[in-house]
Amino acid sequence: MMARTKDKKAAARINKLRDAINEHNYRYYVLDNPAISDAEYDRLFRELQQLEKQHPELVTPDSPTQRVGAKPAEGFAEVRHDIPMLSLDNAFDEEEMCSFDRRVRERLEEQHIDYMAEPKLDGLAISILYENGSLMTAATRGDGTTGEDVTHNVRTIKSIPLRLHGRTSPRTLEVRGEVFMGKAGFLAMNKKQEQEGGKVFANPRNAAAGSLRQLDPAVTKDRPLQFLAYGVGRIDSNVPLKTQADTLEHLRGWGMPVSRDSRVVSGVGECLEYFNKLSARRADLPYQIDGIVYKVNRLDWQESLGTVSRAPRWAIAYKFPPEEEVTRVLDIEVQVGRTGALTPVARLEAVSVGGVTVTNATLHNEEEVHRKDVRKGDAVIVRRAGDVIPEVVRVLKEKRPRHTRPFAMPKTCPVCGSAAVREEEEAVVRCTGGIYCPAQCIRSILHFASRRAMDIEGLGEKLVEQLYEKGHVRNLADVYDLTREQLTGLERMGEKSAENLLAALEKSKATRLDRFLYGLGIREVGEATAMALAMHFGSLDKVRRASVEELMAVSDVGPVVAGHVHDFFKESHNNQIIKRLQASGVHWDEFTVSANRPLDGKTYVLTGTLSAMTRDEAKQHLLALGAKVSGSVSRNTDCVVAGESPGSKLARAQELGVEVMDEAAFLKLLKRK
Ligand code: IVH
Repeated sequence: MMARTKDKKAAARINKLRDAINEHNYRYYVLDNPAISDAEYDRLFRELQQLEKQHPELVTPDSPTQRVGAKPAEGFAEVRHDIPMLSLDNAFDEEEMCSFDRRVRERLEEQHIDYMAEPKLDGLAISILYENGSLMTAATRGDGTTGEDVTHNVRTIKSIPLRLHGRTSPRTLEVRGEVFMGKAGFLAMNKKQEQEGGKVFANPRNAAAGSLRQLDPAVTKDRPLQFLAYGVGRIDSNVPLKTQADTLEHLRGWGMPVSRDSRVVSGVGECLEYFNKLSARRADLPYQIDGIVYKVNRLDWQESLGTVSRAPRWAIAYKFPPEEEVTRVLDIEVQVGRTGALTPVARLEAVSVGGVTVTNATLHNEEEVHRKDVRKGDAVIVRRAGDVIPEVVRVLKEKRPRHTRPFAMPKTCPVCGSAAVREEEEAVVRCTGGIYCPAQCIRSILHFASRRAMDIEGLGEKLVEQLYEKGHVRNLADVYDLTREQLTGLERMGEKSAENLLAALEKSKATRLDRFLYGLGIREVGEATAMALAMHFGSLDKVRRASVEELMAVSDVGPVVAGHVHDFFKESHNNQIIKRLQASGVHWDEFTVSANRPLDGKTYVLTGTLSAMTRDEAKQHLLALGAKVSGSVSRNTDCVVAGESPGSKLARAQELGVEVMDEAAFLKLLKRK
């Protein structure tokens, strides 16, 4: 009797734990709004595992502990799709998109169509069948009619619920969507694979496909696979679905993750607008997309449009231009950077990649050229993703012309002829000419003048090259000695431009210690390190006089950086230049060094416009109080400071329940009010 009561109690607790875990999964994966910490979640999960171990008779296949099944499969069984899994027609430009819309309107005899716009994830399509709320089978698309049974693997994908959520879930529901790998997950996985000597995948799509088609689900479980639902196949439900928007909303309600970037758009005009908006965000999205899918929103209209061969008439995939193209290496040149680093650069036959003409691609360093074995004359694949510098992905060896020669790094600097050496344990070869090398000198001045350093508007590459050639500038301090006569004596420089540049020089003199330190171009002192130094020491003099040990006390400054800073200020010519700069009127306020950093360890995000200061100033204030400042809102954000007309970051913060502060509260925090 006693034992029976105990069993009953265990069964009740097990059910409670399962419900709680399912609810937390739903909040985490679907709503993106977790209610408990990972540690608390783990505790619930372990308690359930423990109880199930004590009561194996109570284990059910849809228990959250049962994601990985017993043992590897022998092969994949076939699964027939009662409702075929279709593919999509493509549009490659606005004209093709407009003719799609025209065809739809003509067939329906309607003036105006609402479409559902959805990101086209680059993974593979699957179908997941739920019966009475439990996940029964999952299959790949295959040829559209017959796919492979990948149930065991799909069960390991944590964002896919083993049980549907809510009471109104359909008796039968076939969910269709895309299994894919996010960019971050893909990189981390490949790194791990490389370290362990495993297979390295060429792109997230291949990685997703390879991971899903594993015979051993234990392997799939460790792959960072994700899922987003975009439609239904078979469905037996009382809920009437009238539009694609309804479908997505209900899928979300039933516990399926659905893209947050899907929108109903009105007419082809808004389709194109949405396309441009998402194109601009493409590089920043956490996953790869290769286009936008547009679907006629009304399901009755979808039905009357029907399908031709294997693609529906009611949907189209408007594809982005590819980010990879094939072209030829005309030459490999060597560029000299600000610190003397020699960088091999491939000069390419012009090719349009992702809508932008590419004529150069970086080859990073000597080792990289040898690893890829890129040679003059080779046919290569170049890639351009978002704003990043184009790079050579690989050589098409089968197309290599005869008599090519491997690349050899020059022994001397191609600009000044000084010896080029490779320091021990360094990947880069450097010119030893220092500031006497014209390339290093010009690059240093450009860095000094750049937006995040002294911000001298108009002092660009062509101009600095000319000024150098004429002998008007040889170091950073010379910049502030430029005269009107020197400037107007240059090619293509009128009175007005000269005036503007002199005004920009004058304006730049009021700066900040961290910007100045960054602008000096001390090796390995980037913006963050410059800021850390400024905040730690407060004044330039203190930084200058600091010993290596004292420098190492600054957060994130190790022996190497400390050494570079110390060496820099040991050089008398550097100090002379600083003196001259200060004598020309370059000045800044000292930093108040506060031992008290009330926001230590907190992450802040800024959005919208503040009336009392620029966003950059607000950022500096936050950093000075010890906070980290991030560009995007996530679960790890502690607070969002929202000014006038805040963007999507505010919405995101509200969604995630992150604290939001208005400008008044922010100023109070800074003790400005
Ligand atoms: S709808 C008619 N929606 O694109 C239904 N497909 O080229 C056809 N895909 O096999 C699919 N994102 O793998 C649809 N939001 C989305 C999609 C999407 C990616 C893939 C899917 C499909 C392929 C068709």
